Amino acid sequence: MSFKEKVIYQIYPKSFLDTNQDGVGDLQGIKNKIPYLKQLGVDMLWLNPIYPSPQKDNGYDVADYTAIHPMFGTMKDFDELVDIAKSNGIDLMLDMVFNHVSTEHEWFQKALAGEKKYQDYFILRDEPTDWLSKFGGNAWAPFGETGRYYLHLFEQTQADLNWRNPAVREELFDVLRFWMNKGVKGFRFDVINLIGKDEVLKNCSENDGKPAYTDRAIVHDYIKMMNQASFGDDKDIITVGEMSSTTPENCILYTSPDREELTMTFNFHHLKVDYQDGKKWTKMPFDFAALKETFHDFGTKMSDKNGWNALFWNNHDQPRALNRFVDAKNYRVAGAKMLASAIHLNRGTPYIYMGEEIGMLDPNFDSMTQYADVETANAYQELLDLGKSEEKAFEIVKSKARDNSRTPMQWDDTEFSGFTEGTPWLALGKSSKEINVAKELSEGSIFNYYQRLIQLRKEYPVIARGSYEAFLPEHPQIYGYIRRFEDRSLLVVNNFYSQKTSIELPEEFQQGEVLIANYDNCLLGEKINLEPYQSIAIYC
Ligand code: GLC
Ligand code: CA
Repeated sequence: MSFKEKVIYQIYPKSFLDTNQDGVGDLQGIKNKIPYLKQLGVDMLWLNPIYPSPQKDNGYDVADYTAIHPMFGTMKDFDELVDIAKSNGIDLMLDMVFNHVSTEHEWFQKALAGEKKYQDYFILRDEPTDWLSKFGGNAWAPFGETGRYYLHLFEQTQADLNWRNPAVREELFDVLRFWMNKGVKGFRFDVINLIGKDEVLKNCSENDGKPAYTDRAIVHDYIKMMNQASFGDDKDIITVGEMSSTTPENCILYTSPDREELTMTFNFHHLKVDYQDGKKWTKMPFDFAALKETFHDFGTKMSDKNGWNALFWNNHDQPRALNRFVDAKNYRVAGAKMLASAIHLNRGTPYIYMGEEIGMLDPNFDSMTQYADVETANAYQELLDLGKSEEKAFEIVKSKARDNSRTPMQWDDTEFSGFTEGTPWLALGKSSKEINVAKELSEGSIFNYYQRLIQLRKEYPVIARGSYEAFLPEHPQIYGYIRRFEDRSLLVVNNFYSQKTSIELPEEFQQGEVLIANYDNCLLGEKINLEPYQSIAIYC
């Protein structure tokens, strides 16, 4: 089976299942739930970072790339997890955070202590540029008492690595080989399109400085070197690059098989359609026309030029899509299935973020004290500094906070949802009594719908391999596309609103077969009517 037939499930280890009652999820918890994941039918598990880390950015501040953080368990637990998963037909994908390390990493510590060799591992300058950190404030911090500054595109304790230095590249390629030797079959590369910095760094007032360090031509060279030095030898390995503020043109380059870079890319344009003027910390209903345009733009270009998308609505950095794109109060179930169809029948490899398969919602927190994320705390403070009232600032933060998706997995309706018997590190979502795995498996229909979608991708080459073309791009409520492979076609239409609507069906599909739909009794004819959040896939 190739990556085109596979579906990947993302686990946020801290919040999946706690087996020693310290309030934090662990590797043993993931092992215990392999049967559940097998039942769902996924092929690979992407784990967010599980390495030793001071956890300033929940593990994206890595202090040691080739060990396991004790709170998650031991290397033995990890090896067992690989084996248990594999014997159930599931592989593991690890998160490689190669743009930066924690300032507690020994490389940074040795650099601070004055070792020249390690100072060359970082980006040190006498004069900072005007670039802004993605977590707020200037992107440079004083490098000890030296009078120099180190670059940190993220939090202050996440120091950017100097990829121009071949020794740094070798260290990182070694890390990949280490995990490959343990049987890891997937790598997710954190913000990998930011690794290539110019030799001379220049001020850039546009867009917080992003154009000065994003998608530089050299990034493609570095990724190719990495490919050739490690995973390129094993054709079963799947790689996905997280691309910050990228373009379809670059994503085609990153993923065209003949260029030997990556299998696929994550891009985020479709998840910025509720950003006012492109700013995250704002609150605005989503712009449907913009959503469709990014899907069609990436979909068509990647299809025409042989690139490959990672398809997703949710991850650990995003509020739950159900809260953003659906009237979840009235149409949670139909909406969850519609969103699932829109992604899973699309061209690319689908990702499911834990809890999505049961229709989990944002936690609906009441106070700032319930949020743990550093980005959220900084953003709240910046909103207050801009003169927003506490109430207004909280409302904005609540709609965008990353912790929205990081709350513990809801397994059952007990006090802490079967996640832990201790005190969870992050509070549970308010709807955990009504929305949980136990309830979903006994009486729900979202999980089954996901199961079916995963199956369909394996059974119908048109889903896994078909081309992509936009369908009714101007329709005010429908996101639709047509997939074609050899002599078969698939039309997928999704109503993104709670108002009914209708469309004219192209002749070729009028006699087609409904492959999957989230309402019963879909009648095909010259015209079809669509219920609130209805999704239909027609095969012919
Ligand atoms: C990526 C991760 C995010 C992290 C950031 C810095 O965007 O998904 O969680 O904070 O990189 O590593
Ligand atoms: Ca634990």
